Amino acid sequence: MQIGIIGAGTMGRGIAQIAASHGYKTCVFDVHKSALLTSQQKLTKILDRLIEKGRIDTQRKVEILGNILFTTSLDPIQEAGLVVEAIVEDAEIKQKVFKDIEQRVAPSCIIATNTSSLSVTSLAASLQQPERCMGIHFFNPAPLMKLVEIIPAIQTKKNIVDQAQSLINSWGKYTVLAKDTPGFIVNKVARPFYSEALRILEEGIIEAPTAVAIATVDWAMKELGGFRMGPFTLMDFIGNDVNFAVTETVYNAFYQDPRYRPSFYQKRLVEAGYLGKKSGKGFYDYSQKLPEPIKDENLGAAIVNRVVIMLINEAADTLYWNIANQEDIDTAMEQGVNYPKGLFKWADSIGIESCVKRMDYLYHEYHEDRYRCSPLLRRLLREGKQFYG
Ligand code: NAI
Repeated sequence: MQIGIIGAGTMGRGIAQIAASHGYKTCVFDVHKSALLTSQQKLTKILDRLIEKGRIDTQRKVEILGNILFTTSLDPIQEAGLVVEAIVEDAEIKQKVFKDIEQRVAPSCIIATNTSSLSVTSLAASLQQPERCMGIHFFNPAPLMKLVEIIPAIQTKKNIVDQAQSLINSWGKYTVLAKDTPGFIVNKVARPFYSEALRILEEGIIEAPTAVAIATVDWAMKELGGFRMGPFTLMDFIGNDVNFAVTETVYNAFYQDPRYRPSFYQKRLVEAGYLGKKSGKGFYDYSQKLPEPIKDENLGAAIVNRVVIMLINEAADTLYWNIANQEDIDTAMEQGVNYPKGLFKWADSIGIESCVKRMDYLYHEYHEDRYRCSPLLRRLLREGKQFYG
């Protein structure tokens, strides 16, 4: 079977590398010749680095590159059994491209989108055979990130989903199944990691200059919470423009549910061009020595507890609304964003009663819908159950 990739950008290139490394003849299409050239050059560089590290030999590099055809013509995709679209995040353009693809491929070909934020169902609706369409959501960098979210549109046939899922599994990925809802699993459940940290900052809970408060939250989440990076370091790494746009999209897509309300502070950073690492300045000023955090264990624990309970609550609600199953939500957060523990495992270790108490404390403190406790946590408490066992 051949694989077709539409769009030779960051994601298209990564997905092509995975498919080609697993021996699939892969055709990468882009409207811009320059994008194809850049993609080819970047992939060659990545493979050269893998040779330097002793992970592959020169013959393997030749094989992988030999499996990929970079092209400005859509015609070679007619042989594809799976086409993954990874072009600009624009529904109209994607729908047009979907129609062009469907005209060329066989009726059995699966047509997938790598969209992060659009409705897969609305993209599928542009096809004559929408039942063959689904979301296959890779994370960046695709060759390194182990998680792939599989998102059936409401039109998708089950056997199509099974076929795609077993193919992606055979590429060494963990696949999780998510309903076609905004942010799918990871981009929804992870929102409080950023937004609650921002809220703590904006409220001025930490009595210190802003730069020190930022460093303190990051220190607490990393050193006490066990996360790979603190939220502000991570937002600077992702780019405040990108991170803010995802939050805003999820917020609007959930009809302005206050749980996802974006932060003015982050908005102002974007407006100022303080995008993070890539612009030299974001939450941190990378031209200066980074500020020292306040290493107070009690303060740190309070910060971690507040962010983690909001993450657990979000995960619980995602399960409550049947967006994904329990194991898949834990896997998604462990593998997609490298959380130290799945959030349901975390909830069990804290205890369901404590989880409910912490949410109720926040709700009583603020009287905001943002802090409503998930009905699932209350139900578990009432029934004396926990998530596992
Ligand atoms: P990118 O901007 O790096 O690449 C997009 C490519 O699509 C460009 O090379 C562009 O020339 C090409 N393109 C634009 N219109 C086209 C068309 N009509 N036909 C063919 N090619 C066209 O974008 P990136 O970051 O790779 O994102 C692609 C998709 O993947 C988007 O839907 C995005 O939301 C999604 N995504 C992005 C992630 C990321 O971290 N960058 C993570 C997961 C999903």
